[in-house]
Amino acid sequence: MKISFIGSGNIGKTVARCFIKAGHTVVMSNSRGPETLSDLVQELGPQATAATAEQAAREGEIVVVTVPLFALPKVPVEAMAGKTVIDTMNYYPQRDGRIKELDNGSTTTSELTAKHLPQSHVVKAFNSIFATEIETTARPENDPQRRTLPIAGDDAAAKKTVTDLLQSIGFDVYDAGALHEGFRFQNGTPAYCAKGNREKLVRLLEEAKG
Ligand SMILES: NC(=O)c1ccc[n+]([C@@H]2O[C@H](COP(=O)([O-])OP(=O)(O)OC[C@H]3O[C@@H](n4cnc5c(N)ncnc54)[C@H](OP(=O)(O)O)[C@@H]3O)[C@@H](O)[C@H]2O)c1
Repeated sequence: MKISFIGSGNIGKTVARCFIKAGHTVVMSNSRGPETLSDLVQELGPQATAATAEQAAREGEIVVVTVPLFALPKVPVEAMAGKTVIDTMNYYPQRDGRIKELDNGSTTTSELTAKHLPQSHVVKAFNSIFATEIETTARPENDPQRRTLPIAGDDAAAKKTVTDLLQSIGFDVYDAGALHEGFRFQNGTPAYCAKGNREKLVRLLEEAKG
C-alpha cells in the first residue's frame, strides 16, 4: 500500500519506518517542503519519497495526519476525500492554544479532525503511544508481551484497515468505539500511553471521565 504522512516529526518518521518494514511505500511531507526531507528519505530508503503536503495527501491510499493540532486547519481537505485518515494528534493548550470545545468536553480532537475532513474516514490511532516506544514495544503475534493499542472511529471499514496495519507492525488493537469515545485515551486519561494487554486497556478506558 502507499501510505502518506502529513507531518514527518517524531511520530511520522517512526511510523513510516514501521510501515516500510511491513512492506509498504511511504510519502513524507512537512510544512517546509520536500527539499527539507531529503535526509529523512535517504535514511528511510527506496520505499520512501517526499512531497508537498497537498501531493502527499493526493498520492496516499491511506494518509496519516501527524502534525501539532494547531496546524489542523492547514491540512489538505479535498485531496483526502474518500480515504482512510489516521489521526495521531493530541491537544496541548500550551502548544496549540486554547480550544473552547475541547476545554469544555463538548467534542474531541479527532472529531475536530473529522469536521475538517468531512469526506474522509478518520480513525484515531497512535495518539496513545510515545514515539520512542513504537519500535521498542512492538512484538510478534501471540507474544505474551504484545501491547494492545486503542483506536476509535465512525467507519467500520476504515477501522478494519487501520487494525490490520497496526497488527502487521506488532500490536494488538482494541476498538474503543465511535470517534467520540476517543476521549477515553486522550492525553491525561488513565489509558493514555498505558503499556499492557487488552484486559488492562479495557479497564483503564472505563476509568476515563467523559
Ligand atoms: N511525540 C510523541 O510521542 C507523540 C505521541 C502521541 C501523539 N503525538 C501527537 O502526534 C502529533 C505529531 O507529534 P510529533 O511528536 O511527531 O510532532 P513533531 O515532532 O513536532 O512533528 C510535527 C510535524 O508536523 C509537521 N507540520 C507542522 N505543520 C504542518 C503543516 N501545516 N503541513 C504539513 N506538516 C506540518 C512538521 O513539519 P515542519 O517541521 O516542517 O514544521 C513536523 O514534521 C502531535 O499532535 C502530537 O501531540 C505525539
